[in-house]
Amino acid sequence: MKDKKVLVVGSGGRCHAIVDALSRSPQVAEIFCAPGNAGIAGKATCVPVAVTDIEGLVSFAKEKGIDLTVVGPEASLVGGIADRFTQEGLTIFGPDRSAARIESSKEFAKQLMMRHSIPTGAYKVFDRFEEARDYVLANPLPAVIKYDGLAAGKGVVVAQSYDEAEQALRDMLLGECFGKGRVIVEEFLAGPEFSFMCAVSGDKVYPLAIAQDHKRAFDGDKGPNTGGMGAYSPVPFVTDEIRERALNEIIIPTAKALVAEGAPFKGLLYGGLILTEDGPKVIEFNARFGDPETEVVLPRLKSDIYELFENVALSTGKELDLEWSDETVLGIVLAAEGYPGSYTKGIVIEGAGSDCDSDNSFVYQMGTSLNDGKLVSAGGRVLMAIGVGNDVATARRAAEERIGRIKADGMFHRTDIGKAAIK
Ligand code: AMP
Ligand code: GLY
Repeated sequence: MKDKKVLVVGSGGRCHAIVDALSRSPQVAEIFCAPGNAGIAGKATCVPVAVTDIEGLVSFAKEKGIDLTVVGPEASLVGGIADRFTQEGLTIFGPDRSAARIESSKEFAKQLMMRHSIPTGAYKVFDRFEEARDYVLANPLPAVIKYDGLAAGKGVVVAQSYDEAEQALRDMLLGECFGKGRVIVEEFLAGPEFSFMCAVSGDKVYPLAIAQDHKRAFDGDKGPNTGGMGAYSPVPFVTDEIRERALNEIIIPTAKALVAEGAPFKGLLYGGLILTEDGPKVIEFNARFGDPETEVVLPRLKSDIYELFENVALSTGKELDLEWSDETVLGIVLAAEGYPGSYTKGIVIEGAGSDCDSDNSFVYQMGTSLNDGKLVSAGGRVLMAIGVGNDVATARRAAEERIGRIKADGMFHRTDIGKAAIK
């Protein structure tokens, strides 16, 4: 019966994709999104409650009789949204604070992996600058230096020189820009990266399709690290055998490890993995949907996403056979010039609406708002053009054609998304 009311917490392209997938569910009657964005407003009722206003979200969910809440951003999880919703008897898809430490504390994640023999790079933790510097100088380059805590994607430096490594350690341990100083210095792992998102409820794992993100700002993997400039799914180099290994050697053991340590996970466990010569290893875990991976994975899902969310949120342990389209979905992010550094907001955008879509292309909005009825940019990553096709090259052409119908000054995008998968 189509009678369910869902609240999605968040505002980016990831939430636009979640709202879109929920709108295809035969059970979902009404979708609310807090706070949402101009694109999401086409499929959900946007409500002006901030993602960190946990009490405001609890009140809203109670008032509206929401059946299920789905959480997008880590800030809500770290703020304890799942703990509070559960206390109030509200059904929520998202881990509590204790399980979300797998993302919010890199040290917790690393220790958990070590204790449970989950494959990842060797590491050492430092809170004193001199010790960290001496250690890095005594070891080969590149040096991987990670800030321990949430740092909005800016907390990882892969230093190719000792000067760069020293500067990163100064910023993280002596500087003011990150707050409490503690870093992890990690073994450099070489290989292609891929993203494996799984819905997890205790030790029950529901794997989603694999995707690959492109973290650097510019073509050829040049420029600074960003939140992600484009993605595609499926990923040809991740064969069924590699996927099974990743599932059995990494994701399932991690879900079981969290249960064993009294912090069972309920929500979306994101494995940022790398295929090394010794097999898949963990670069990082996130406790939420990836952005921009979600935008290319969920359009391939043929099954009812509400059923998945509900079974995880209620910990039913039910078997679900998720069905996926064989087509490739590829998305290209349009970002404001200057991103991931400082950038202007308020760029006027035309041609992002569904009236400009085609059968094999559309747009998810990432950072947009309406100003006097006009669509304007409101974030660094603004839009994601999505193309669908039989292979990566066809999907990319469709996404590029969709970009061709967007008019906006002062935005840039990569032209080589999925290149590694195009022969
Ligand atoms: P993270 O925020 O941990 O995902 O790191 C951002 C990016 O830094 C990753 O996507 C990798 O490209 C790179 N990176 C992080 N850790 C390592 C590592 N141990 N070896 C090689 N590259 C890494
Ligand atoms: N695309 C990587 C992330 O969501 O963190």
